[in-house]
Amino acid sequence: MKLAILSRSLRAYSTQRLRTAAIDRGHQVKVLDTLRFGIDLTGDEPDLHFRGRPLSVYDAVIPRVGASVTYFGTAVVRQFEQMDVYTPNTANGIMNSRDKLRASQILSRHNIAMPATALVRNRDEVRGAIELVGGAPVVLKLLEGTQGIGVILAPTTKVAEAIIETLHGANQQVLIQRFVQESRGRDVRALVVGDRVVASMRRRAQGEEFRSNVHRGGTVEKVDLEPAYEEVAVRSAHIMGLRVAGVDMLEGEHGPLVMEVNSSPGLRGIEAATKLDVAGAIVDYVADQSGFPDIDVRQRLAVSTGYGVAEIAVLAGSELVGRTIAESGLLEMDVQVLTLHRGTRVTPNPGPGKVLEEGDRLLCFGRHEGMRSLIPARSRRPKRVRRLPKQPIHDVPGQAEALVR
Ligand SMILES: Nc1ncnc2c1ncn2[C@@H]1O[C@H](COP(=O)(O)OP(=O)(O)O)[C@@H](O)[C@H]1O
Ligand SMILES: [Mg+2]
Repeated sequence: MKLAILSRSLRAYSTQRLRTAAIDRGHQVKVLDTLRFGIDLTGDEPDLHFRGRPLSVYDAVIPRVGASVTYFGTAVVRQFEQMDVYTPNTANGIMNSRDKLRASQILSRHNIAMPATALVRNRDEVRGAIELVGGAPVVLKLLEGTQGIGVILAPTTKVAEAIIETLHGANQQVLIQRFVQESRGRDVRALVVGDRVVASMRRRAQGEEFRSNVHRGGTVEKVDLEPAYEEVAVRSAHIMGLRVAGVDMLEGEHGPLVMEVNSSPGLRGIEAATKLDVAGAIVDYVADQSGFPDIDVRQRLAVSTGYGVAEIAVLAGSELVGRTIAESGLLEMDVQVLTLHRGTRVTPNPGPGKVLEEGDRLLCFGRHEGMRSLIPARSRRPKRVRRLPKQPIHDVPGQAEALVR
């Protein structure tokens, strides 16, 4: 395999370990400075330049895109994707995981347990949000912090309000999160590669500190994770679109609470704590997958006019409940079922004999016309844009002040 490692710091431990692991396995490998790329959209096909010259052909790329270069770094990764070069972490995955709020929004849709979190912008809403997550003490977080910087424990509601007001004044968004006290300054980091956790460690905060980040003086030790923790870590990484990720979890009363998913996890701490060749596991996985670049299915399939991808929910009382896919009438409407989601389980390519149950969600590809009839009315949009009414703005009876607001 010819492998590119995207990195700003050529000498960093993680970069060097990946490079060494690739060489040891007989791969061709180059470490390329993320900021020396040029994105070329002038020709017929998407292309990349490096240091001003056309880039040679690579089989795979391992992006190590730091927070300071997210925009350009993900643009380069996206360009590799457009050129059908395999990457374990997609540009979307990297961007989604970088923003703590966006990550939580995506994960929460998939029943991943997380510490209760809220985001508000108006000062009138702050107190309610603090109560919503369980009251003080609360954890406050800047959206894009790393290494524990921008994570604060506010002991009282008053202090929390003061901090939030200050940050809002500086135009900073801040997450309000339940302080998971029962985790006692400890958390676990699971390193996900492909479909499994290859190494994991527990981090412990020092002294009075509640943040367990190594950069905040936290200590690490290897840990054998319970299956529930491993499963949540792998699912979280996959939901984010990452095949190489460091998933941080607090040990909650009822099991794992996912805090964040890191797309460029550091390797030094975890390799030292576990004595495992994590870099080698990453390189082996990438070599194994390099023939199967990720395809943005929605983007590709949406190209056929009149066809598209939709999720059909099997609601209570729907005539689909109890029918098999063959009996559902979907095939006759030129609709294919790609996956069936039932709770947290996913069945890829469900066969015609699969019986549908209430609560199932079907990811389908097919004619919009056919799928529209199966989507509940509230999400349908009127077909044509209506004429502007004679009186474009008017009072709604009983809501006269709505206009002034
Ligand atoms: N809700 C919480 N309850 C208890 N401890 C927390 C909570 N959120 C974060 N921490 C502690 O703070 C550390 C840093 O938080 P994290 O969200 O991972 O930010 P960063 O991206 O800066 O690492 C965590 O590793 C954990 O030890
Ligand atoms: Mg962290």
